[in-house]
Amino acid sequence: MTAKTPICSALLDYDREKCLRLHMPGHAGGLGFDFPGFKEIGRFDVTEVFPFDNLQMPSGIIEESRHLLAQAFGAYESFFLVNGATSGIHTLFLSMINPGEKVLVPRNAHKSFFGGMVISGCEPVYIPCQVSEDFGLALSVSADDVALLLRENPNIKAIFLTSPTYYGTVLDIKAVAAETRMLNVPLIVDEAHGGHFSFHEEYPASALSCGADAAVNGLHKTLPVFNQGACLHIGEALKDKSRIFSSYTLLTTTSPSYPILASIEWARAFMEERGHGLMEQALVLSHEYKFKINQIKGLKCGNKFLRAKGVAGYDPLKVVVFCDGLNIDGYELAQILRNEFQIQVEMSEPGLILAMMSLFHTRDDWEYFYQSLVCIAQKYYGEKKQSEPLVFMPFPEVILTPREAFFAKKKRIRLEESRGLISAEMIAAYPPGIPCLLPGELISDEVYDYMCYLKMTGAKIIGPEDGNLDFIYVIEQ
Ligand SMILES: Cc1ncc(COP(=O)(O)O)c(C=O)c1O
Repeated sequence: MTAKTPICSALLDYDREKCLRLHMPGHAGGLGFDFPGFKEIGRFDVTEVFPFDNLQMPSGIIEESRHLLAQAFGAYESFFLVNGATSGIHTLFLSMINPGEKVLVPRNAHKSFFGGMVISGCEPVYIPCQVSEDFGLALSVSADDVALLLRENPNIKAIFLTSPTYYGTVLDIKAVAAETRMLNVPLIVDEAHGGHFSFHEEYPASALSCGADAAVNGLHKTLPVFNQGACLHIGEALKDKSRIFSSYTLLTTTSPSYPILASIEWARAFMEERGHGLMEQALVLSHEYKFKINQIKGLKCGNKFLRAKGVAGYDPLKVVVFCDGLNIDGYELAQILRNEFQIQVEMSEPGLILAMMSLFHTRDDWEYFYQSLVCIAQKYYGEKKQSEPLVFMPFPEVILTPREAFFAKKKRIRLEESRGLISAEMIAAYPPGIPCLLPGELISDEVYDYMCYLKMTGAKIIGPEDGNLDFIYVIEQ
């Protein structure tokens, strides 16, 4: 590797020095670990002694690496995140909005948006999602809807969007930015799943390059980065916003993981040197195998998402396979892939599975995935025994702001008794973790039925204390 990697280089030098480590962490450079692999990682898990700089007040190797990160992603300034994209989203909510101010957010946001709203005390105005009629997937929000809401709510202080979505659809950020620029409203993009976009021109363009004022990349999701490794980028328009830095330091640990920091740095350098070639290869494989999977009787794997309003592109590394022509559902398909073919996909839903391909999957991997689908489709081709009616995620009424609900008095009741009350919990099916109900929202008949539907389909429910959803916390009234 010839690209500069100041953090990695310092870690390697320190490891070679073999000095007696009389400092944190308590495993003493890995000595305290007796678990396969931990000793190795421990050698590079240091603390902020010389020359390792300080994440909260960088002036040495971290500062240098931060500049290199910003350059690679076309940002005015970039920040390392060691607690996932979540911490970047929290940072931006806290820095952009004051309590009681209004913010535009899409309904299909990740749960970290809710955390951001509690932390900032803002009042959400939800943007409706464009939902695919056949599978009920929330694919986008349209620039027209954003423009309309901005006109209807002249006191919006910021807009937060998600692009790409978990399914890989990319929004028309350019069109949205044209609206927000005119009104001088900062446009923030949760680009958690798009950290690779900056490194190949035939992939969707990055949010920053389309005019977003800030973006958060969950780098660990798509690049060779340890879990929790992410980054926050800001564009020039926010360069004087000092509250971004103070919010960042408020919400960031004073003991960052150097393996995570180093992996972010390494991935940046790696992508600068080898990213384009690997992305090219992945693009070719994606086109070829999506076409082939699409030919399998009973399965569909097109980019038909692109036709949804507001969708401007699609991440080729997201492979959504619809199984409406098989007599098994998406959950069963995922289970068969795991149990009989040792393939674990990212996510399944009643009508589909989502496979996340990486830059490191070879032609053999794509071929094996394809052949496995061929075998399964041959065996299970046919009409579903009993196809469950598709139930769309509801659009609940907001009664209290997320922060008011968070601090309100709560009580635990049986789910059957919750109709007509205000929820005190977030309820989301994971993946993708998009809440169908947030604290402060009304449990209408429609919302209640949707929760019953989630229970019936066996979806993994996150948010409530009772993961089976037999009980739910509501606001005491
Ligand atoms: C769209 C989106 N945004 C944000 C996040 C949060 O990312 P992290 O897990 O890195 O905190 C996720 C995680 O799944 C996500 O899918």
